[in-house]
Amino acid sequence: MGKPRVFSGMRPTGRLQLGNYFGALKSWVDMQDDYECYFGVVDWHALTTGYEDTSEIRENTREMVIDWLSAGLDPEKSVIIRQSDIKEHAELQLLFSMITPLGWLERCPTYKEQLHQLEGRDIMTYGFLGYPVLMAADILAYKAEAVPVGEDQLPHVELTREIARRFNFLYKPVFPEPQALLNRDVTLLPGIDGRKMSKSYGNYILMSAEAKDVEERVGMMVTDPERIRRTDPGHPDVCTVYAFHKVFSKDELPQIEADCTGARVGCVECKRRLARALNQVLEPIREKRRALMANPDLVEDILRDGARKARAVAGRTLEEVRSAMRI
Ligand code: TYM
Repeated sequence: MGKPRVFSGMRPTGRLQLGNYFGALKSWVDMQDDYECYFGVVDWHALTTGYEDTSEIRENTREMVIDWLSAGLDPEKSVIIRQSDIKEHAELQLLFSMITPLGWLERCPTYKEQLHQLEGRDIMTYGFLGYPVLMAADILAYKAEAVPVGEDQLPHVELTREIARRFNFLYKPVFPEPQALLNRDVTLLPGIDGRKMSKSYGNYILMSAEAKDVEERVGMMVTDPERIRRTDPGHPDVCTVYAFHKVFSKDELPQIEADCTGARVGCVECKRRLARALNQVLEPIREKRRALMANPDLVEDILRDGARKARAVAGRTLEEVRSAMRI
């Protein structure tokens, strides 16, 4: 029996923010020994909301893969690909689009939410509505059983399972029903304003941020709005800084909570503690990044090699699919 297969991907938005790291990438790194891993830079997905200005996709792809490597992804262990290099994803997306009811896509909570959040941008397109179908194709082209993602991607993984089920029912049982894997500690990391951390909301901290940027961004985090004076007792449950401490200062958590609720430590000091803890985690990643930047061909070499390996696997899946559909 081989190792179970895993696929996950990220849109090339450039350098990663901490939500990408703690929600997904960190699990990817930890899974490399126990699973057969495929990780993709999903550049076609980036077009669904950013089709007008495509000038930065290539550079963003490079920056992102460097971040992946800095955090510990190892191309000797994992297959690292760029979605648009593997045309099988597009063929499978097209075939899935034939069997996916429109209602499933229109009802998808992320679709409705994004239409609302990105108001002003024209994303009433066929491609944007079909976002989860392409994602299903990414995952199922490798017959992946596990998909390590942040909580915001759960509706998409659920749709992937439904599409797999429908295909298996209509034609032949070709696909597994993949499971989402959430990071135990962080399923959804807030940004400095308390909403989900996201590049498009401008509320992020970069994984590769320099130490003093981390201090600055942590300094801007929203805290308990009812704690106006230093002597007011705080409410950690509504505080973004505390949400971060839960992840980065696990051992000191009871102390931090007591200091806040007992008004013993002010928000400024509490933020200083957090910045210190964060920088401790990020320093080795920054260091590795500096070393990797020295090799300009590295990313293209890795993607070329990844494409070769991935095409072989996805190609076999597509043969089975065509045969099951008799085309
Ligand atoms: P994307 O590019 O928005 O995000 C990449 C990964 O980072 C996670 N993430 C977060 N996790 C916790 N807290 C946050 N604040 C946070 N922000 C981002 C996301 O959950 C995701 O795991 N649709 C996907 C890309 C994709 C994909 C796939 C993923 C395309 N095909 C196939 C898995 C399998 C997306 O837009 O992720």
